[in-house]
Amino acid sequence: MEVERVQVIASLSSHTIPAEFVMPETEQPVATTFRGPIPEIPVIDLSDPDEENLVCRIAEASREWGFFQAVNHGIPTEVIRRLQEAGTEFFGLPQEEKEVYAKPEDAKSIEGYGTKHQKIVNGKKPWGDHLFHRIWPPSRINYQFWPKNPPSYREVNEEYGTHVRGFADKVFRSLSLGLGLEADAMKEAFGGEELEYMLKINYYPPCPRPDLTFGVLEHTDMSTLTILVPNEVPGLQVLKDNHWIDAKYVPNAIIVHMGDQIEVASNGYYKSVLHRTTVNKEKARMSWPVFLEPPPEFVVGPIPQLLNDQNPPKYKSKMFKDYAYCKLNKLPQ
Ligand code: OGA
Ligand code: NI
Repeated sequence: MEVERVQVIASLSSHTIPAEFVMPETEQPVATTFRGPIPEIPVIDLSDPDEENLVCRIAEASREWGFFQAVNHGIPTEVIRRLQEAGTEFFGLPQEEKEVYAKPEDAKSIEGYGTKHQKIVNGKKPWGDHLFHRIWPPSRINYQFWPKNPPSYREVNEEYGTHVRGFADKVFRSLSLGLGLEADAMKEAFGGEELEYMLKINYYPPCPRPDLTFGVLEHTDMSTLTILVPNEVPGLQVLKDNHWIDAKYVPNAIIVHMGDQIEVASNGYYKSVLHRTTVNKEKARMSWPVFLEPPPEFVVGPIPQLLNDQNPPKYKSKMFKDYAYCKLNKLPQ
């Protein structure tokens, strides 16, 4: 069966959206978004020469929010601009050109162009399409899912990949030091140099009724870290103290989410953040998250040095692929 792309539905200009995208009234964005004075979402300057202060800020944000926006992160603005331009051009191609990269129906991997077609929460679908492909390590790259058009796509994604790895190393280092561990402890707990980098491009088309639906429904990422570049259209919300808070658009910032594996490895010290996205009436929202995942057979569990009588393990140690299986099939971990 042909999957219906949200981008195609959105192009059939209408004032309404199909019922399967309409959230129940009590769960719609207006009913559930926090309207009080917006608490300060952490924005952290990665160029801070005071390393101790930087480690504290990153650890504090990762513990209290599971989320922060990084500025002066060292990834050149030009590289980010070209990454965004290449992805935007891909989603602007005629539908049949994009379908060449469609995720094969029987594939085990999530790689490829796709749309969440199973109705995931309360029988409702999110308002967005996506493209997934790994960008690292080279042995795990499947160029079949990398667009050939625009022609610059491969080069800019490889270049961004190099920068994102350097940035991730800095964050892992701070998270390790923030826990009183050796600087390389966190990264090693997820497979070290074997870590896999899965890029996703989210494309949330303009939506005639942004008050009724979401771009992605609430979830935590099962990754270690997720490192995300947004476009200028705001929409990301994070849950803090039971309130859905809008993450404002900070020009040139890179967004960092703690995923489930960080929570497990830190034995609950850092929090995997619940998040979701709203959509926009006039503009397409796009984002480029990179999910940093342990290799499938790598066992992740609470880091032994953190454990003692007062801090017994709160999570099971298990292979990442088993964790993923349980999460995707909604089974207990
Ligand atoms: C995701 C996600 C957020 C965004 O794709 O897992 O949470 O800002 N995306 O698009
Ligand atoms: Ni997410």
